[in-house]
Amino acid sequence: MLITVCTTYEKIDPVRFIGNYSSGKMGYALALEAAERGADVTLVSGPVSIKLSHPNVKIVDVESAKEMLAACTDAFPCADISIMCAAVADYAPQTVATSKIKREHQEVPTITLVKNPDIAATLGGMKKPGQVIAGFALETDHEATNALEKLHRKNLDLIVLNSLRDKGAGFKTDTNKITILLSDGTSVPYELKTKAEVAADILDKISEKYF
Ligand code: PMT
Repeated sequence: MLITVCTTYEKIDPVRFIGNYSSGKMGYALALEAAERGADVTLVSGPVSIKLSHPNVKIVDVESAKEMLAACTDAFPCADISIMCAAVADYAPQTVATSKIKREHQEVPTITLVKNPDIAATLGGMKKPGQVIAGFALETDHEATNALEKLHRKNLDLIVLNSLRDKGAGFKTDTNKITILLSDGTSVPYELKTKAEVAADILDKISEKYF
């Protein structure tokens, strides 16, 4: 299995970056649950403070979306199941300042952004028969419509929707509330559960549906 986790850091200068609030809890819970079930897991991890040591888990540490993409395209051909749990930064600064940007000596700086690669969509384009890709969708509105659009555009087999409108769901919490949407148009809502239980639900659904 291949699992992506956490945020990515997109450097502005040696001391600053663009990122988001992903703590890694959801993705690490998935990696542990999969490893406990006997899967060989490659966990491509953005910067995170969680530690995981398991004989079935190989952790590949990355920082930026570009590094995450390279690690994923390496691991993907051998993966039966890929779960894209990382909250990848969609944009990165076009240029990275080589020394710290100082507030004293210049006008307020303007940072020009460029689009990062879409890792899930790239793997979706490489997918061979028998490979399953699960995405995540973190939404704040029009949840199901947005999630389904991502599922189809990125050529995923299922997508795990979590909404910031649900208390206890999303970033940094020990719990999550998900709905799994499948490419056949069906969807399964779940109660608020711990991220360990949510991880088990996701893996149960993948094995029930595809293996
Ligand atoms: O880490 P935690 O604090 O436990 O929080 C968990 C979580 C909220 C980060 C997780 O449950 C979650 O929702 N992860 C995906 C967040 C996200 O980036 O969603 P998105 O809707 O922006 O992206 C859709 C899908 O495309 C995701 O599978 C994402 O990994 C992938 N993607 C997005 C952008 C990009 N450039 N490359 C990608 O692969």
